[in-house]
Order: sequence, then structure tokens, then C-alpha cells
Amino acid sequence: MAASVIGSAVTRVDGRLKVTGAARYAVDHPIDGVVYGVPVASTIGSGKITAIDTSAAEKMPGVLAVLHHGNCGALYRTAGPFEQDIWMSESRPPFEDDTVYYYGQYVALAVANTFEQAQDAAAHVKVSYREQKPLTRMSDVTGPTGPPHKHYARGDAEAAFNNAPVKIDETYVTPTETHNPMEMHGTIAVWNGNKVMLYETTQGVMNHLGVMSQTLGLPIEDVHIVSPFVGSGFGCKLAPWPHSLLAAMAARKLRLPVKVSVPRNLMFTAVGHRPITEQRVRLGATQDGKLVATIHEVKNPTSQIDDYMENATEPTPVMYSCPNVTADQWLVKLNIGSPMAMRGPGANPGMYALDSALDELAVKLNLDPLEIRLRNYAEKDEGSGRPFSSKHLRECYQRGAERFGWSRRTPGVGSMRDGNEILGWGVGSAIWGAGRGGAQARVRLSADGRARVSSATQDIGTGTYTVMALIVADKTGIPVERIDSVLGDSSLPPGPMSGGSTATATIVPAVAAASVEVIGRVLELASRTDGSPFMGADPKTLAMTGGRVHKQGEAPESGVPFESLLQLRKVAALEAEAKTGGAPDAHNYSMHCFGTHFVEVGWDPGIARLRVRRIVTVMDAGRIISEKTARNQILGAAVMGVGMGMFEETVYDPRNAKPLNNNFADYLVATNADVPEQEVIFLDYPDPVIGEYGARGIGEIGLVGVASAMTMATYHATGVRVRELPIRVEKLMESSSSV
Ligand code: MOS
Repeated sequence: MAASVIGSAVTRVDGRLKVTGAARYAVDHPIDGVVYGVPVASTIGSGKITAIDTSAAEKMPGVLAVLHHGNCGALYRTAGPFEQDIWMSESRPPFEDDTVYYYGQYVALAVANTFEQAQDAAAHVKVSYREQKPLTRMSDVTGPTGPPHKHYARGDAEAAFNNAPVKIDETYVTPTETHNPMEMHGTIAVWNGNKVMLYETTQGVMNHLGVMSQTLGLPIEDVHIVSPFVGSGFGCKLAPWPHSLLAAMAARKLRLPVKVSVPRNLMFTAVGHRPITEQRVRLGATQDGKLVATIHEVKNPTSQIDDYMENATEPTPVMYSCPNVTADQWLVKLNIGSPMAMRGPGANPGMYALDSALDELAVKLNLDPLEIRLRNYAEKDEGSGRPFSSKHLRECYQRGAERFGWSRRTPGVGSMRDGNEILGWGVGSAIWGAGRGGAQARVRLSADGRARVSSATQDIGTGTYTVMALIVADKTGIPVERIDSVLGDSSLPPGPMSGGSTATATIVPAVAAASVEVIGRVLELASRTDGSPFMGADPKTLAMTGGRVHKQGEAPESGVPFESLLQLRKVAALEAEAKTGGAPDAHNYSMHCFGTHFVEVGWDPGIARLRVRRIVTVMDAGRIISEKTARNQILGAAVMGVGMGMFEETVYDPRNAKPLNNNFADYLVATNADVPEQEVIFLDYPDPVIGEYGARGIGEIGLVGVASAMTMATYHATGVRVRELPIRVEKLMESSSSV
């Protein structure tokens, strides 16, 4: 029997369209008569709009309208938190009133025949404000006072900490990071009577559908979301932002198709960011490095119009074994736009702090950083008390250590060299919750020998097109080249959001079930069609293998291709749909992905240069469905980790919360020259609880644990402990090894 296609190195099925430029992204769609909306963004952080003078702008060539809170049609709020499927990024729709809550809030939209005309008009809209002093830093706010936004406790962590023989008490800070996907946000809204079609770039076509239906006040069947290709998201496209609502509103008002494309500078204001986290971590341990107390207190800013919590304490009860744990989170409301989940939200900054503190403990005790992780290895989820559905983190550490050569590490600061460079080695632990929700999918087998699989999900670069095709290929034996994956369209059977690393685990069971269902229909047709070699047979005695229908127990070659049977019957296609839910036994288990990163940095003290030289990553992410796209996810995430460790930081002007580095020249991300030698190893143990294929998600976890491994490695090389990311050269100049 041929080897399974699952986990094989097939090439991304949509890759050709992407590299040839044929893939259409949201604002690429050619729409006849489209006009352009350009937002006017507030230049204050807090206050009231006192007047909007549009007279000059309206007289400019090609200008069709300047819309603002005083003249636009109503947009509604979403129904609220009880509508669990609906997630809007800001609690209020744009232009609701004259209040400015943050710098960069849209206060008007200039619409014109060309983009240039609209841009020019937007620049000529005069907005007057009554300005209040904005809150731009957490230190501007006293407190937080009152109970935490989120609280977790087991045992008595304060007492255990106070009595612990060895203690660490440090505060770690992660900066604001802005997602900045390559494809900027954008929407084209096209009305046809009372129905609206939105060309979008979204991580959730179904959520977008729900939000737009509610904010526009339309029945859900009158809204259609199309998002066939997404130039990544990293979380900022999880939920609709104001520009999408403005495009729809303007198009309705003008009865013209309207395109609103968010320029790079506004990608820093009204489409989310990962907020700063300030995390105090207290660890108490025995002399041999066993944790007896963990106290993790986190504060993050959010906007005035949402309650976004960067859930940094999420891994704290689960990651390491410890009898006494307290984990608290507080929010501080500032005049900065709403934050939004960014790759590895919560766990990523949280593990930076927790793992950094653990490394400081290891240094204090003269213990190997890997050894201290093994001494505190959690055999079960001590947070929920449940067993893990599948956990092979110990093997991750072992495999990674072998590949990396960890046993050659000498513990002394600055003790390892390669030429002019002092080497530093660090290791990080990665964790991310695994989940599976409900989804529907449809599979169609055609008389031309092709298959089509469809669901209203989307592929944000993660490989969903390929994953869907592979499951159909596995079930039917039809080669991947003859399978069309169709997604990114809300008119298809409802599929999952690309968020929280749950899309694969959620869509796979639905596609598998629909495949089985349609195969059943083929077998039935085979047994009931005149001229079929299986006429009159019990369909239960038949099977489909390699795309051929045959008698069970006989070689597939003895059978006939499914398309011949469809042709014989003169039908174009057979189709089946399936709906699947969450993992049935999930509530009895703790489902997580695990992993580790081994990082080598090189510090050249002569020229004060720090570089990441190598990263070896080992992932225990369940069964890998699509090997190449999975590897691509982890490689990219680890590169993002290099960015988080050394480059990324959005800097706000303390006077008005303007993001000062709102461009790619000043907001640094890792470039090719910063990318180290990388290796990714998948353990590939199917998770027995999550579903038939045992696939968990891998979108987020690759970023978790990179930054702490980098600061650990940097300490090992330089003796400088960086507790406030990113690592900058100036912070390393106090290193005794610098000249
Ligand atoms: Mo992920 S931050 O849920 O896109």
C-alpha cells in the first residue's frame, strides 16, 4: 500500500497562484467603477471633535463625499458578549459620536474617484478638537486598584515564597509590538440592492459576516464576505476593524463600490497591536531547584473602548510543576487604540517572563538551564488537575539538546568562543493550548475525476488549502493535483476562524467526515447503476482506494475509477456535507502543544554586535498533516521570535500617543540578514484526544520561548540580563566583555 499523503512533503497547493501573482488579495479585486475612501485619523489622543470643516475637501476634483459622525448613516454595535461567535475588535462602531478615544481614531472618510484624489481630500479636511491630556503610559494611571481582571491561585504562594530557601523577584517588560502583516488591511464594499459583498482580508470570514450583519443592521443572508487569499495576519485580522465598516457604510451611502485600503502608517493605530506587558515574577525554590512558589503578576494597557487582556499568566498554572501558584492580571486603560491578539497572545510574553525568571534561578543555583526545566517537569496539568492528552516535552528537550550539542555548553559567562565572537547558549520552553471547535465542510467528486473540498474558513498563509486537500486525498486516494480546495467565502458551509491555532484541528474532522460521506454515496451509486460491475452488491462490501471503487478485500486495481461510474450514471458529481463539533473527550484532558528552542547567539565585543547564530526547534504538536507548510509556520515564527527578542518595539509619543516609528524604516523586524541557521524537528505523535488524525495546531507556538532563550543566551555570552525587550546593543555595553 502506498505511503499516506498525511505528513508528506507536498508543495503548498495555492503556492503557484501566489508566486505567479495570480492570487487575488482583498483590494486586488478588479471592480468596475470602484471609488476610493481614505480615512482622516485623529491627531489627538483624547478629547472631543468640535468641528469638521469639509468645505475645501469637497470642492476638490473627483471628490464624492466626506463622511463623518455628523452626516453618515447609522452603524450599530454588535449584540454583546453573549453572542459568542461574534467578535468585533472595538466595542463601538466608527463615527458613533464626537468623542476621540485614541490617537489615529478615524474621524472622517474622504471618498473620491481616484485614490490620489481621496488622499488629497483627506489631507484637506480640517478637524477641530477640544483636547484632553491623553493617558499614554501605564505610569500615567494610578493603580490599578481593585481586584485583578483575572485571578488564579493554588496553595499559598505568598507563604511558600516567603519561606523558600532560594528566591527570585524580578520584573520583566515586553514592549508594544505591531503585527504588520505584509498585506495591509483593506476592504472593497459592493452593494447590490440591499445586499452587500465585501472583499476582505480576514482571519475569520464567518466572524466577519456576523459582525457586518449586525453593525450594518442586515439579515445575515444579505451579507457576503470573500477573502480567498490573506497576506498573513498574525492576529490583527481576527476581527473586523473600523475601516471595513466605513467601506460598507460609504458604499451604501454613495451607491458605489468603495475601496478602503489601510496605509502602513495607520497599520499602527486602528488595527491592533500586542500591548506592553509588565510582569513581576517571584519564584521560590529549594536548594536543588524545585519550585515551591510561583507568583506571576501582569499588567497590560488596553484602550478606552475594549478590555483586551494580554493573557500572559495563561501558561503559569500549567507549564511547570509547583504546588503554590498565584497568577493575576490587571488592565490599565489608555488613549491608545485597541490591542489585539498577536501570535502566541499571552503565552508568548508570559513565557518570556516565566522562563527568564527560571533561568535566573538556575544561575543562582548553578544549575544547567535544561536541568532545572526537567526538575520542574509537569507530569499533568496542575492547573486543571487533568492529565495531558499527549505530552512529549521531555523528548523535545532531549532531541533538541542532541541536535544542538548542548552537552558541550560550559556554564561560565563568556566562557565559549568562536573566533572574535563570544557564544551564548539558551533554551526556551514553548506551550500553547490546543483546541478544536465546530465546523462544516463539503466534498464533491466529479465525473471528470476531480474532487473539490470547500468550507468557509480561510488560509492566512498557514496551509489550510493544503491541509483540506490532503485529508480528501488521504480518504479518497485521489491525488492532491486533482483536488481543488475552496475557501475564503462566507457562502460556503461555515468553517473555523484561523485563530488560536485551532483551524487545522477543527477543519480536519469536518473534511474527513464529508469525504467518508461522499465515498459512501459513490459506493451506493456503484451498486445501483446499470452496467456497473458492482450492480446489486451491498455497498458495505465495497471500498474506494486510490480513487477506485473495488470489492473489499480485493486489490484496488481490480476495481474501476470512481469517475467511470459517475460517467456511466451520467451524473456530473456527487456531493456530501458534514458537520463536526469539538473533541468529544476534551473536557477530561488538558490539550496543549509543547516545544523547545535552543538558541545560540554570538556577541562580538570588539564591534558591539549581537547576532542569533542558530536556532534548533523541536515541536510536539500532534500529528503533522502538511509537512512543508507546518515547517514553514515554525520557521517563520522563530524568525518572528528573533524580531521580538532584538528589534520590535512600537514607540509612542508620550504627549499624544502617536506611534513615532509607524513605518518599516523605523519599526524594525528581522530581515534576511538577521535570520539564523534554523532547524525544525517535529515529534509527530498523534494526539489521541483531539480527533481521528491527532493534529493539534502550530500557528502560534513557534514564537513562544524564543525571546527568553535569546536573553538567556545573551546573558551567557555577556553577563547582562535583559529584562526589558528588545535586547539592544546599548544595554549590552555594560558587559564586562565589551571593550
Ligand atoms: Mo492568532 S494571534 O489567534 O492569529
